[in-house]
Amino acid sequence: MAHAKAAGHLTVPNVQALAQTWNESGEQVPERYVRTEQAGDEEVVVGSEIPVVDLGRLLDPQSSEEELRNLGSACQQGFFQIINHGVPHDVIHDMRRDITEFFKLPLEAKEVYAQLPDSVEGYGQAFVFSETQKLEWADMIYLMVRPAETRNMRFWPAQPPSLRDSVDRYSTEVANVVSCLLRFMAADMGLKQPERLLEMFAGQPQTMRVAYYPPCRQAGKVIGMSPHTDSCALTLLLHVNDVQGLQIRRNDGKWHAVDPLDGAFIISIGDTFEILSNGRYRSIEHRAMVHPDKERISAAMFHLPCPSVTIGPLPELVVGGVRARYKSVGHAEFVERFFATKLDGRRSNLEYYRISNFHLRSKQRK
Ligand code: OGA
Ligand code: NI
Repeated sequence: MAHAKAAGHLTVPNVQALAQTWNESGEQVPERYVRTEQAGDEEVVVGSEIPVVDLGRLLDPQSSEEELRNLGSACQQGFFQIINHGVPHDVIHDMRRDITEFFKLPLEAKEVYAQLPDSVEGYGQAFVFSETQKLEWADMIYLMVRPAETRNMRFWPAQPPSLRDSVDRYSTEVANVVSCLLRFMAADMGLKQPERLLEMFAGQPQTMRVAYYPPCRQAGKVIGMSPHTDSCALTLLLHVNDVQGLQIRRNDGKWHAVDPLDGAFIISIGDTFEILSNGRYRSIEHRAMVHPDKERISAAMFHLPCPSVTIGPLPELVVGGVRARYKSVGHAEFVERFFATKLDGRRSNLEYYRISNFHLRSKQRK
């Protein structure tokens, strides 16, 4: 699959195994994991809130219009949580249970699903391109999930035995929530032909990244996931256990810790949607931190357009003198570039496609 290729990416030590012995030792955290940009004194704002979107209210004709305005504003802020999403409790429960069980397996059992060279699919780590690059304090498992024919079961854990079925059921539910959100987002953007947007997501393409962040005695010195924006259109994030660590960078330039409501999913607008919406919706930089004595597990479901789609501002949004703020690019090329670039914060892949002199040019024309 084009979107799993990561030419030249390197394999790295298993962090869960490393943490088990290192946390017991009296040693300093290995140099390769010490983050330079993270002196530990950087200000992090706790207790700030992200918008809450109520899917039940969106679907109820009585409240739909009002909640649609709320959704529109949430998408412009880039990060929000959804409640009343209708995903059955047992589906979420089984997903959480089986993912947690998988990471409890001995290393040899997990490594059956290890990544192969030049692909990020499977158990391992992504975005590592040099022996000197700083590393993240996390392991992950990355899978193609939808459409079903993209699945490579070689990488799908068969332990615990119910995991495949749990992921499948969860994936279906989540993809339906996202399809529903897409319809409302089309309405918020004022699209007269919403089906053109929905067709881009035919077959509900979806990949999954489950991250395991082991505890780290010197948590302030390491990072679980480097600052980045998501490349996809929409991410739906589940906290598999109740340990927080997600932080977003707001317009004030500070990192804000995100603490979701019980039972809510976190939704993030990805680069693809920022481009499709011609900048109306924003893809926000975020990162994941590590806890000093608790493991943290998250499951991100990434929703992408079909591989054949050209990503660019939706034609309906660049009419009547409104200019495209991003270049158009084939989806395969867009994703390949994302995976071939180290995660180095500020919207690096997105900036590449931004028409940088947009403001200047539009001013000159006035
Ligand atoms: C991601 C991501 C955050 C987290 O997988 O893209 O941002 O909290 N994860 O694990
Ligand atoms: Ni992310």
